[in-house]
Amino acid sequence: MSAHPFTSEPVSESRPAVEPFDAVELITKKRHRQSLSQPEIAWVVDAFVRGYVVPEQMSALLMAIQIQGMERTEIRDLTMAMIASGETMDFTGLGKPAIDKHSTGGVGDKITLPLVPLVASFGVAVPQLSGRGLGHTGGTLDKLEAIPGWRANITNEEMERALVELGGVICAAGSGLAPADQKLYALRDVTGTVAAVPLIASSIMSKKIAEGANGLVLDVKFGSGAFLPAEADARELAETMVRLGADAGLATTALLTNMERPLGRAVGNANEVRESVEVLAGGGPADVIELTLALAREMLDLAGKPDADPEAALRDGRAMDVWRRMIASQGGDPDAPLVEATEREIVRAERDGIVQAVPARQIGVGAWRLGAGRATPGAPIDHTAGVEVLVRPGDRVRAGEPLLEVGCDHPGRMARGLELLRSAVEIGDAEVIAGPIVVDRITATGESRPPGGRGNGR
Ligand code: URA
Repeated sequence: MSAHPFTSEPVSESRPAVEPFDAVELITKKRHRQSLSQPEIAWVVDAFVRGYVVPEQMSALLMAIQIQGMERTEIRDLTMAMIASGETMDFTGLGKPAIDKHSTGGVGDKITLPLVPLVASFGVAVPQLSGRGLGHTGGTLDKLEAIPGWRANITNEEMERALVELGGVICAAGSGLAPADQKLYALRDVTGTVAAVPLIASSIMSKKIAEGANGLVLDVKFGSGAFLPAEADARELAETMVRLGADAGLATTALLTNMERPLGRAVGNANEVRESVEVLAGGGPADVIELTLALAREMLDLAGKPDADPEAALRDGRAMDVWRRMIASQGGDPDAPLVEATEREIVRAERDGIVQAVPARQIGVGAWRLGAGRATPGAPIDHTAGVEVLVRPGDRVRAGEPLLEVGCDHPGRMARGLELLRSAVEIGDAEVIAGPIVVDRITATGESRPPGGRGNGR
């Protein structure tokens, strides 16, 4: 990558004359639950990137980490080693605070779309280097590509211009940030070592710290649609990432949020863009608005703007104005009609009763089968494919009432999706009180205040 004000090249490590450690020794240490030292961790990551430590050895080490865990200092050293494998970015020249956000991913999670222009409308730089869908969870870039003409890949110069002129930018992450993570992630994906807190935390935070923002807000999800379904695991992940941020001097706050049920009504791509635009126009589903505002308040706090009122910016069109300019600056037409499904079905209630659950995972996998996600890496996705969730847990329904609207552009995929979606919504007789979306707020200092609020009644 060429030198640029935003990026610094990685320190080039040449191969040592004699390798200072031995991979088998490190694997054995970790297998016996011993801690690895900073030089050992820095070496093994670098030697893996260089190809000296082979994938078989790294896989064994990852499995030992998955089973035996890591100490806080080891997770920090692993994160730093991954950062050192690539370039870092620096937004200090922008003359405004740069605040980043990351979600661990979920079903119907389109929050980045309204959130970035909303926070940017307050003069904050929001660089969102985003990814594509992973399994049953959607990807921000896939959603935005439903907008005719919009392109995810932009140059560093275009990114800088967008941050200066508009404040917000959502684009594809280049391969220069933490390349060791990309190599490790590909190995974890095929060795059953994805769902380990030390590995997830270091993977996410290496990229976020390398991005060089002034502050970071994390949306860490639990529930059936999340990476780590158990709330306790998600909490441990959130606390680990917040500590990693603090250790690296990156002010980090995490919200722990519920992903038992899909977020909002729309699950898919084009339909999630439509719902995001509704939110930017001052409407949209209550849970999407609530989470967008909670995250916006955290980001504005970190930007030193605790009195900013993001609710007003949704109401009065300021956020929508930034959105339109952001889309146009990446070749998209914010007024173009979005693609519509050619195949449509409605899933109806089979009996009278109360909605007990709308399991996010089942809805997410159903939408993925319809074509909203990829079956193989790089495969095209169907932007029309998706589900409109018409009911929430606790709603009373009558037999025959619509529960889900299902759409895609292929009859075969419709049949595959419906196999799962027909039985997705559980109806019973018990009263159900749906819990809050934001269940906790985690900071490095352990400071407590109501999630998403500022303790000032707003
Ligand atoms: N996202 C990442 O970037 N890394 C992980 O390990 C999991 C989710």
